Amino acid sequence: MTRQILVTSALPYANGPIHLGHLVEYIQTDVFARFQRLRGHRVAYLCADDTHGTAIMIRAQKEGRTPEQLIADMAVQHQRDFAAFGMSFDHYGSTNSPANLAIATGIWQQLRQRQLVVERSVERLYDPVQKTFLADRFVVGTCPRCGAADQYGDSCEKCGSTYPATELKNPRSVHSGAAPELRPSTQLFVRLEPLQPFLREWTQASGALQGEVANYLAGHFLDKPLQDWDVSRPAPYFGFEIPDAKGQYWYVWFDAPIGYIAATKEWCDRTGQSLDGWWKNPQCEVVHFLGKDITYFHTLFWPALLHVGGYQLPRRVQIHGFLLVNGEKMSKSKGTFVTAQQYLDAGLDPDCLRYYYASKLSSKIDDLDFRTDEFVGKVNSDLVGRVVNLASRSARFVEATGLATRYPDDGGLFAHAAGMRDAIAAAYEACDYREAVRLAMTLADAANEYVEQKAPWTMKKDPARAAELQDVCTVVLNLFHQIVVYLQPVLPSLAAKAAKLLGSSCDRWDLVERPLVGTKVAPFEHMMARVEPAKVAAMFVPATAVAEAPAPAAKAPAAPATGPAAAGAADAVDTLAKEPLAGEITIDDFQKVDLRIAKVVAAEAVPDAKKLLRLTLSLGSGPTRNVFAGIKGAYEPEQLVGRLVVMVANLAPRKMKFGLSEGMVVAAGTDGEVFLLSPDQGAKPGQRLH
Ligand code: 2FM
Ligand code: ZN
Repeated sequence: MTRQILVTSALPYANGPIHLGHLVEYIQTDVFARFQRLRGHRVAYLCADDTHGTAIMIRAQKEGRTPEQLIADMAVQHQRDFAAFGMSFDHYGSTNSPANLAIATGIWQQLRQRQLVVERSVERLYDPVQKTFLADRFVVGTCPRCGAADQYGDSCEKCGSTYPATELKNPRSVHSGAAPELRPSTQLFVRLEPLQPFLREWTQASGALQGEVANYLAGHFLDKPLQDWDVSRPAPYFGFEIPDAKGQYWYVWFDAPIGYIAATKEWCDRTGQSLDGWWKNPQCEVVHFLGKDITYFHTLFWPALLHVGGYQLPRRVQIHGFLLVNGEKMSKSKGTFVTAQQYLDAGLDPDCLRYYYASKLSSKIDDLDFRTDEFVGKVNSDLVGRVVNLASRSARFVEATGLATRYPDDGGLFAHAAGMRDAIAAAYEACDYREAVRLAMTLADAANEYVEQKAPWTMKKDPARAAELQDVCTVVLNLFHQIVVYLQPVLPSLAAKAAKLLGSSCDRWDLVERPLVGTKVAPFEHMMARVEPAKVAAMFVPATAVAEAPAPAAKAPAAPATGPAAAGAADAVDTLAKEPLAGEITIDDFQKVDLRIAKVVAAEAVPDAKKLLRLTLSLGSGPTRNVFAGIKGAYEPEQLVGRLVVMVANLAPRKMKFGLSEGMVVAAGTDGEVFLLSPDQGAKPGQRLH
């Protein structure tokens, strides 16, 4: 029976790039969507940018553009990254769309009709100069928990605690610098308590949730009356103004999930389908994929809105854990916060990441640990060594003849692999991709044993064994084809290349049941490269201190008379006076100096030297360089490992007391205050500066 399945991934915020953490979820979802299509089901995979809220408004303000300009740029970047990693969205929308406003308005009217919206006065911080209420992020002050200065009104970047903005010590408005006042503000709340019996039933008995999630909700939320949900924010706020409450905006989490429906609506309009055929059709299975940090929104608020709005409830909410890198949380300063772009810039193949994640993903909420050595091992030994090799070791022997016209006796290997289809399908269906991949790899092992045993490369040498060679290669390529069909949801690009090689499709599940015979074999083209560990190392680029520091402009009002530009000009005068410009040189003089991007692969203090750190620098290839740099007071050695610097690469080596220095690292400033230079994102070790 053909099923109708609507699949979503959580909508990424439009204020940041897609990173390897996001990709756990998008790859998990995409594999599911592709698997269901492979099985012949009717699938819609929908996503959109999550565009509203204060964070986006603040970023746009800092960058001197409108939120609309910012989200338009981010939409392009996000979709470019997703396309590179093979996401097969049917439609990608935006929560800042007319469709989303219309659907949110409809749900809001239902909430009103059912008396589920209440107005209440709450005390909020108010900027008496700007005459406006202040969103939490527009108030800064001292953390009420740890005393750190310059913290936002909702959370402390130093100690990580969250608190109401009213608890901040010495608060001031980001807009005017004035001390905010507490003033009563009318806020809108959605009452959840009347919906509690429904939510209890749905979370505990529908089977839509993983067991641990259902238990968590029962123990933490549903055991007491659910609190009203504060869904409005006063201006200024980047979002939708609530149609019947002027000056009030829906909180971003109100309209974000509605974006799932709005994206479907846009897709339906584009393709001549009816929205109700998906979201109001009990036959349609809605499946949401999301991370554990947003469980609460998707398992309490969201079903409440769907229920009241008359939409289908999710048939399944599949929640995953976080991404760790080598056992630790992703960190910008350690360079383990890797964006999709950094991964691609390092020259790594997106299919490798898809395979690696799939080989580790189960249906549980466990965190997924990206271990660099394991990544290299799994791709090189398993994927290239055991799967791709099947084709590279057999295809060229039958380029001229094609496959045998009758499937030869293979001792039952093909039938055995075909017999695995239900077990592999069940694993995919359960989102236990680790198991699906494991089963496919057992088939690869059996096929490799067969190749070893038959040794087609020896048959090739004996013209009398040509028919036998064709038979053996026919078997091997058929086993390869089956494995590729099984792995097609994970490895769509490899599947496309295999289809081209074998002149057959790899995108129908039942292809595993019938051997390919008598077909042509295209000239073998390279299918997948082994991962070079140096490329993996190259994707870990620590953020520079500058990029990581919270931008002060958002925290302190700029004093009008001495804006940042004026201050910059004054700095320049002082600095130049201290160190006047050097005498003129020609371009030829400049070109004698070979400046290169280099990566710090190791750094340590030189024990007897007050100012020196010993750096080991890589230029991407060739031997590493040992360089002594006078930056000990300014940088900790561990801070430097993995980052990119600029080095003078053709300086004659210099013998020093501590060893040979084979170059020089470029830095600004003098002894006390030294600043290393970093290239913009995308630069690679070895590149020359011109
Ligand atoms: O946590 C997040 O990244 C949110 N932008 C997810 C929103 S999912 C849905 F509700 F829109
Ligand atoms: Zn704090």
